[in-house]
Amino acid sequence: MHILSYANVKLGVRNLGWDNDPRLALLFSSPQPTTAMNIRNSKPWNLPESTATPEDDYLNRRKFLKAAGLSSGALIGGSIARAATGGFPSTKNENFLLESLEPTEFDLIAGYNNFYEFSYDKGEVQKLANQGWKTEPWTIEIAGHVDNPMKIDVNELIKKVGGIEQRVYRFRCVEAWSMVIPWDGFKLSALIDLVQPNSKAKFLKFTTFYDPESAPGQKGGSIDWPYEEGLTIEEARNELTLLATGIYGKPIPNQNGAPIRLVVPWKYGFKSIKSIVKIEFTSKQPMNTWQALQSREYGFYANVNPEVDHPRWSQSTERIIGSGFFSKRRDTLMFNGYEEQVAHMYKDLDLRRFY
Ligand code: MTE
Repeated sequence: MHILSYANVKLGVRNLGWDNDPRLALLFSSPQPTTAMNIRNSKPWNLPESTATPEDDYLNRRKFLKAAGLSSGALIGGSIARAATGGFPSTKNENFLLESLEPTEFDLIAGYNNFYEFSYDKGEVQKLANQGWKTEPWTIEIAGHVDNPMKIDVNELIKKVGGIEQRVYRFRCVEAWSMVIPWDGFKLSALIDLVQPNSKAKFLKFTTFYDPESAPGQKGGSIDWPYEEGLTIEEARNELTLLATGIYGKPIPNQNGAPIRLVVPWKYGFKSIKSIVKIEFTSKQPMNTWQALQSREYGFYANVNPEVDHPRWSQSTERIIGSGFFSKRRDTLMFNGYEEQVAHMYKDLDLRRFY
């Protein structure tokens, strides 16, 4: 029994890629076996959450590391990169506090990640995204149907839009888990006001960086890199839509999409594209990465909807990350609880067809 649980922890550490840490070498000195969890699936859209790092597994190793006096943050210690530092300290926006919900622990938000440019294993991303990938300085380009296109440093952009604020939002992944995240950032509408779209601008297309040398996941796999996403201009102007540059009052960690990512809390997490290098105002609806991979499973809208199931996951309930292995699932709310702010945008849309 004892040996079994020890082996499980060892496998966990191996899969996090933390076995190079000298402190862990003291704890685990034997060679590590190759496990099924190390095998990469060539079709990411066929990758159920359970074949990446299962949450229980991730939480188990974290518990173990805590008991050994190490936190996931401590493990990557000195190698944490600086992202956009502009605008801090941010001010709390009292209108977006979600007092009834406990924010997810920082270590979980920063250690349980989907960022396929680095790995399909949620527990590996944190380490791989902090091995020399530079996220400051960072230039973002705003182009397309706008009167005032620009290429601008993210810190400069933060100044131009009037700084950042903190908002606590629910975050719901299509894999049916959820977190509550205190984001720092600015409204996307502030950027839209800055660049002045013209009447042809109906959509926004977002593009992530492309740098296979820093992001090993971009060297292969089925995704046609770079990762892309899109919103209608009305969605982009919605008061909830943020460009986040921080979490918990600090520059956003690389693994969470440094230095600037999208946050659309009423949509499934995959819409929240990370590490954006370009925003283009278009007249045609852009194709997003997941829709291009598997349009039967992922649509353009991706609004959180407990009544429309994903072919492989029921969307009616969700696991709350960090609430314990055996805790009850929570009912998923229409538009992830933001119905009042967003339902008007979809009143003429058949949400079963336009998922
Ligand atoms: N953005 C890029 N560029 N690459 C990705 O793989 N994954 C998406 C989204 N944005 C992803 C991305 C998915 S599937 C989710 S659920 C969220 O990021 C996860 O964000 P988090 O790691 O900060 O929780």
